[in-house]
Amino acid sequence: MVRISNALGLVILMVALLILSLISYVSIRKDSILSSTKYDNMGGPPRIMFHAGFRSQFALNFLDPSFIPLTHALNEELQGKPSKWTFNRTFICHLQKEIFHYIDVANNFSLTKNGVRVGQLMHFDFSSHKYVFSINNNLKSLLPDASPIQNKHYNVCAVVGNSGILTGSHCGPEIDSADFIFRCNFAPTDSYYKDVGRKTNLTTFNPSILERYYNNLLTIQDRNNFFLNLKKLEGAILWIPAFFLHTSATVTRTLVDFFVEHKGQLKIKLAWPGNIMQDVNRYWKTKNLSLKRLSTGILMYTLASAMCEEIHLYGFWPFGWDPNTGKELPYHYYDKKGTKFTTKWQETHQLPSEFKLLYKMHGEGVTKLSLSHCS
Ligand SMILES: *[C@@H]1O[C@H](CO)[C@@H](O)[C@H](O)[C@H]1NC(C)=O
Ligand SMILES: *[C@@H]1O[C@H](CO)[C@@H](O)[C@H](O)[C@H]1NC(C)=O
Ligand SMILES: *[C@@H]1O[C@H](CO)[C@@H](O)[C@H](O)[C@H]1NC(C)=O
Ligand SMILES: *[C@@H]1O[C@H](CO)[C@@H](O)[C@H](O)[C@H]1NC(C)=O
Repeated sequence: MVRISNALGLVILMVALLILSLISYVSIRKDSILSSTKYDNMGGPPRIMFHAGFRSQFALNFLDPSFIPLTHALNEELQGKPSKWTFNRTFICHLQKEIFHYIDVANNFSLTKNGVRVGQLMHFDFSSHKYVFSINNNLKSLLPDASPIQNKHYNVCAVVGNSGILTGSHCGPEIDSADFIFRCNFAPTDSYYKDVGRKTNLTTFNPSILERYYNNLLTIQDRNNFFLNLKKLEGAILWIPAFFLHTSATVTRTLVDFFVEHKGQLKIKLAWPGNIMQDVNRYWKTKNLSLKRLSTGILMYTLASAMCEEIHLYGFWPFGWDPNTGKELPYHYYDKKGTKFTTKWQETHQLPSEFKLLYKMHGEGVTKLSLSHCS
C-alpha cells in the first residue's frame, strides 16, 4: 500500500514538473513570437524613419535595403522622362482573373436584404470572435436588394487616397475626368477641389467617423452637419465597413437609426460589406503582402479591379516628405496647416510595404500611380 502511494506521489510530482516546464517553454516561445512580430510591424529596423523632416533619399535608404531600387526608379521617373507609361491589358486581365479566384468582388461588395436574416449574428474581421452584432430590422431595411456594382463596368477609374502629397498637385481636373471615382473615409473635397477634384462615386465610411467628426450625432447641429455632407454625395455609394472592428458596433447603431429616420431624404446608395477580409487578405498574400490589416487604399484597389479597366491611383504616398521636392508633407491633404506627419498608422497598417507593391504594379503597367503634379 505504502509503495503504491509512494509511486503515485512520484508520478504526480513528475507530471507537475512536466507541466511547469511546458508552461515556461510556451511563455518563452510567446515572447520571441511577440517580439518578432513587433519587429515585422515596423518593416525592418526603422521607427526613426518616418518622422517628418527626413529627406527622401536618406530616409528611403535607411528604411529597408529592398527600397533602394525603388528610390532610384522613382527619382528617374520623377525627374525627366515624361511618362511613356502605358497600360498592359494582357496583364490586367490576368490580374483580374487572379483576384476573382480569391474573392467574388461583385457579390461580396455588400450584404443584401435576401442574404441576411433578422437576429443573425455577425462577427468582426479584425476583432476577437467573441464579439457579435445582431442584425435587426432597421439594418436589414437599409441593405441593397442586389450588389450596387453588379454588371457595372467603367473604362477609367480614379482611386483617391488621402495622402498630403495631393496638396498643390492640381490633379483635380484629371481626377474628375475619370468615369468612376473612389474616395476613402468620407474625405472632404470642397475646399480642396483644385487638387483632389469635386466628383465622388463611392466613398468608404468607417462608422467611427461619427465619433470623431460628428460628436456621435448628439446635437441638432451635428445631425445637420452630417446630413448636409451626405447631401453633397447624392447618387454616390457610401461603403460602410461596419463588421471589421467591434469598436464600431455602438456607433453603427447610431448610424443605422439616422439613415432609417432620413429614409427618402437622401439619394445615397448604402453598401454594407460583410466579413470579406479573410478572402481579400488571402489574395494579397499571394503578392507577398501579408499584413494584419490592409489599408483602405488597397481594399479600394481590390474593389475597383472588378469594375474598372484602368485604375489610376492618386494620393497614395505614405511618407512624410514630397518625393518631387523633398519638402515636408502632412499626413492627409485635409490636415490643418502645420499638422506634423504622424507615425500612428504604424500601429495598424504597413503602408510602406503596400506602397512598394503598388509601385511594382505601376512598373508592370497594371495600374498608374500618380506621384507628381498633374499638368
Ligand atoms: C504585358 O504583360 C505580360 C505578362 O502578363 C508580358 O508577358 C508582356 O511582355 C507585357 N507587355 C508589355 C508591352 O510590357
Ligand atoms: C462572397 O461571395 C460568395 C459568392 O457569391 C458567397 O458565397 C459568400 O458568402 C460571400 N461572402 C461575403 C462575406 O459576402
Ligand atoms: C460619378 O459622379 C459624378 C458626380 O459626382 C456624376 O456626374 C457621374 O455621373 C457619376 N458616374 C457614375 C458612373 O455614376
Ligand atoms: C514572394 O516571396 C517568395 C519568397 O521570398 C518568392 O519566391 C516569390 O516569388 C514572391 N512572390 C511574388 C509574387 O513576389
